Amino acid sequence: MNVAEEMVKVAERLTENFVAQTDPKVFVTFYLLTVIYEDLQALEYYGSMQANDFVRGHLHRPWGTETLSGELEAAVSAEAVEVDTAADLVRLTSRGKEMLRYIEGIFRESGFFTSRSRLIRLNNFNHVDDIASMMEALAPTACEHRKTVVELSGIQPGMAVLELGCGTGALTFEAGLFQRVGPDGRLVATDPSTSMLASVRRKRETYNAHWVEVVHGKAERLPFPANTFDSVIGYAFLHLTDMDEALREIARVLKPGGSLITLHPLHFPARNEFFLEWFAPLLKTGGTPRNQDNLPGPDTVPSAMEPHFEIVHLQSLDLEMHYTSPRTVVEFFVGIVDVFEEQMATLPWRARHDMVQQLIKRGEEVCRKYPPESLVEMHPGQFIRTIVRK
Ligand SMILES: C[S@@+](CC[C@H](N)C(=O)[O-])C[C@H]1O[C@@H](n2cnc3c(N)ncnc32)[C@H](O)[C@@H]1O
Repeated sequence: MNVAEEMVKVAERLTENFVAQTDPKVFVTFYLLTVIYEDLQALEYYGSMQANDFVRGHLHRPWGTETLSGELEAAVSAEAVEVDTAADLVRLTSRGKEMLRYIEGIFRESGFFTSRSRLIRLNNFNHVDDIASMMEALAPTACEHRKTVVELSGIQPGMAVLELGCGTGALTFEAGLFQRVGPDGRLVATDPSTSMLASVRRKRETYNAHWVEVVHGKAERLPFPANTFDSVIGYAFLHLTDMDEALREIARVLKPGGSLITLHPLHFPARNEFFLEWFAPLLKTGGTPRNQDNLPGPDTVPSAMEPHFEIVHLQSLDLEMHYTSPRTVVEFFVGIVDVFEEQMATLPWRARHDMVQQLIKRGEEVCRKYPPESLVEMHPGQFIRTIVRK
C-alpha cells in the first residue's frame, strides 16, 4: 500500500487525539483487535498459510518492520490457530473463526470499517497522477455534464462560492465556474488531495483567474468561519464523505439563504451483462445485494439533507460511462473510488492486489468479446440544489 504523507499526518493526529481522549488501554486493545483481525482474516481467506509466510506477513501485512512470530504464539495460545508442524502450515481453528466473526461485528457496529475505507479512499486520491485523463477516458461527456451543473447552479457573478472536492479543477476552470463568479466574486476551490490542488494552482495561472483561491480541506471539516459563502458547489464528491458531518459543516459555512449544489452518482442496481461477467469474482465475495456498490440510493442524500436544507431543484442527470479501457476502469472504480469497498474489505492485503490484476485481465477479455458500443452504460446521477435552513 502506498501511504501518502498526508495520510501519515492524519493517522498521527487521530491517534494522538484518541489517546488523549481515552484510556491508553482502550487504544492498545483496539490495536490488538486490528492485528488479530488481519491475521485471522487472512487465514480464513487462504485456508492455510506457510508458517514462514505468516510470520513475515507476506500475504497480509507486508509493511510491518517486525516479524509476526509473537502474534503467532499468542494466537496459538488463544487456540485461535493451530500449527501443523509436519507440513509447516498455520490454520484457523473453529475458535479462531468465532473470534474473527466477533471482531468483525465490533468493527462493523463501531463504524471502523467505514472510516477505514474513507481514509483509504482519501489516500488513493492522493496517488492519482492524472485524474482528468482517467475521467476523460471513462466519461467523455463529463465536461458537458459539469457545464450543465454550472448552468443549473443559480450562482451569480460577485458571489462568494466554495467548491468542494474540486479535483484538478475541471468544474472551476473547464466548465467555466470561475467566469460565472467573475473577478468581483470569490471562488474557493478545495480538495483533500494535495496532488490535485497543485494542478488547480497551475490552471489558475493559465487562466489568470486571481479571484480563485485554492485551499486544502475536506468537506467534514471546513477551514472557514460560519456564514462565509453564498453557495457551496461540488461535482461527484458528496458520496465520498461522511454525509451527515459534511452537510452539517456546509450548512455552517453558508450564509442565511445560501445554496448547496451537488451532483453525485447513485447506486446502480441493474448492471449490463458485460459488467456482471467482468466483475463476477468481486461481486461473489461478500457484500449484500443492496450494497453491490456503496453509492447512495435515490433517497439517501435528500433525507440526509432534510435537517439543514430545503431542496429547491432535484433532477436525474445520468452519465455515460465507457468501459473500453480495462486498466483505467479497474484502477478508477476499485483502486481509487473503491465503490466495492464492502467486498474489498473482506480481502487480505495480497488478495486485494491480486483481485485488481485479475479484474484487469478479465476486462481485457470482456473488451475483446463485446463490441465497444455495448461497453457503455448510463450511470444514474442526481442533481440537487438546496437552500440552507437558517
Ligand atoms: C470523482 S473526483 C471528482 C473531482 C472533480 N469534482 C471533478 O469534477 O472532476 C472526487 C474528488 O473528491 C475528493 N474527495 C474525497 N473525499 C472527500 C471529502 N471527504 N471531502 C471533500 N472532497 C473529497 C477527491 O480527492 C476527489 O478530488
